Parts: sequence; structure tokens; C-alpha cells
Amino acid sequence: MNLPDASTIPENQTILIRLDLDLPLESGRILDNSRLKKSISTLQKLLAKKSKLIIIGHLGRPGGTTNPSFSLRPVYTELLSLLNSNPKTPKPLSSVFLPTLEDKDEITRALITNDLIMLENLRFYPGEELNSPELSSNLASFASYFLNDAFGTSHRHHASITGLKDLLPTFYGDDFIKEFKAIFSLIENPSRPLTLILAGGKKDKLNYLPDLISLFDHILIAGLLPTFLPSSPDPKVQIATLTQDHQDIDSTSQQKFLSIIKDSSTIIWAGPVSNYTQPTGQVGNKKIALAVTSSSAYTLIGGGDTEASLTKLNLEKKVDFVSYAGGALLHLLSYKTLPAIKI
Ligand code: 3PG
Repeated sequence: MNLPDASTIPENQTILIRLDLDLPLESGRILDNSRLKKSISTLQKLLAKKSKLIIIGHLGRPGGTTNPSFSLRPVYTELLSLLNSNPKTPKPLSSVFLPTLEDKDEITRALITNDLIMLENLRFYPGEELNSPELSSNLASFASYFLNDAFGTSHRHHASITGLKDLLPTFYGDDFIKEFKAIFSLIENPSRPLTLILAGGKKDKLNYLPDLISLFDHILIAGLLPTFLPSSPDPKVQIATLTQDHQDIDSTSQQKFLSIIKDSSTIIWAGPVSNYTQPTGQVGNKKIALAVTSSSAYTLIGGGDTEASLTKLNLEKKVDFVSYAGGALLHLLSYKTLPAIKI
């Protein structure tokens, strides 16, 4: 499948750009900016075409109400600093962060004097997750084109993902296309045994399990997911036993996982197996990370937190492919397509 990229968008256009702005944060501090870095080259290409960029996205799960601890302002500051410190960014770059979507005149005015504007967290508005046609058309009214480089959110039927693609000519960022192609080609003909490490804290990942069981030879469940799925639904599925404080997997599970990893030919890893940011959660994730990165298997990791946990151990360059998508990776593995893709 060939997805249209930024190269065919004409010059001097206003473009709505959906990015993966959902960065791992701790007390307001950005732990890892890789999800921003992956989109920088696409933004630079569009700025070089004298485009006006309206950056949109979400952070966390604020549940449709304004919550300052989920504000995108720190993400905007980080994006600006990445762009300004990069010699390939066309300069000077004028930009502004707009804290509300309500004031349409303010957005229109901001577009006259700025090359780039970022709007506040779309998940402050219930319409985003409800895929409200009103929110999509409000956003679409400011631009002539839509570009999606938010591969990590491409599995969501949300206003800024599926809604916009039906209203504007739609293009995809370089990273979106790269991730889509890498995952798609991997599942077409994987080298087996094919193992999935399914972990992290998001319960909704387990919804994909029935479809994943038919694709994988082994599925290792860890992170917080064993608390939602205490017994195995299939002999292919191994569920870790957690330590008493639920921050790690116990040593018996670590050994079981290590032996399956050792015999695998392809390993896909989605979600940290333990709470690696906490002192009592570091052992399991580190052991699995060392086993995966020293394995001779083809290795693909997915999700902002998985990538951040490997970066913390300086191991992120030792995997064959880094995808910034967790849920979207599982969606693509399960259904071979994504809601964000316009057919
Ligand atoms: C992710 O981190 O997986 C994406 O940002 C999507 O977030 P969500 O699971 O809250 O929709």
C-alpha cells in the first residue's frame, strides 16, 4: 500500500498536522522526546515549502475536561527547542501555543503572523474521543490539507485521526509511512518462532488478544496486564506472576520468559514488563531488555514507554526497529490495517 507523503503537498498551504505529542512525563518533566524527534524532518520539509503548520495532538487521558497537568505547553516548548536547534529548520521560525480551541478568531489571527501554531490537548474536549464531526470540521476549517504523522494514535477512531481524513486531502508523515511499512512487511512473512511480549499498564491492549493468538507462537504477558488477566486463555499465552507490590514480575516468570526469548526468531515487544521508573520495578525490565537486545532474532519494539525504558538502559540502538506505537502496533498486527488510513 502506497501512502501519499508530504512531497506532493503544494507550497504556501495551511496544513493541519496530527503528531504523537503523548510523551512519557514525570511530574511535568519530559522523560523522552523521541516521539517529537521522529517528526522533525517532515515538519522541516513543510516549513521549507512556506507552509503554515497547525500542530494538533493529545497528551495522556484527561477524559474530556481541561486539566493543567495534561497541558501540551511543555511539549510545545520541547518541539520548538528541537526545531530551533536543528540547522535544517528554515529560520526565522515564528510560532505560538494557543491554550484554547474555542476562540476561532484568535487561531485565524495567529496564523497570519506565525509559521507554526500548536493547539492545546485535544482530549480536553469530549468531542475528540467521541469522534465528533463538529470538532473535526472546526479543525478542518483552518486548513486546506491534513497530514498525519501520529502513527502511535492511528488505531483510534478520534476526531483528529479518522474524522479529519474524511474532510481534507490527507497525507502521511515520513515516520508514519516508515513504521507502517516496517510492521506490515514483518507480518507478511515472519521468521518463526514469533514471540510477542505484551506488557505495560493499558488494559485495552488485551482486547487484541484473540487476534494476536492466531498470529503469534508465544505471547508473554507482563507489566500490569496480569492483574486484568489472571489465567491464560490459550496454551500459547504465558502470564507473568507479579511481585507483591506489582512493580515487577517474579524471578520464576523472568526465567520462563528468558527461555522463550532465547528460542525465538522474531520478537515484538510492546510495553515495559515492570514499572522501570520505580526502584522496586527495575530488575525484570532490565533482564528482558538485555535478553531481547542480545538475541539473534529480528527484534521490533513498540510504544513510547518501551522505547523510553530501553533508552534509559542505553539499549535502544540494539533493536532492529523502533516503533513509537503501542496500541497502534497491536491494531496493525491484529487487523492488517489502521483506522487512520484513507483507502
Ligand atoms: C499511545 O501512547 O499509545 C498513544 O498516544 C495513544 O494513547 P491512548 O492509548 O491513550 O489512546
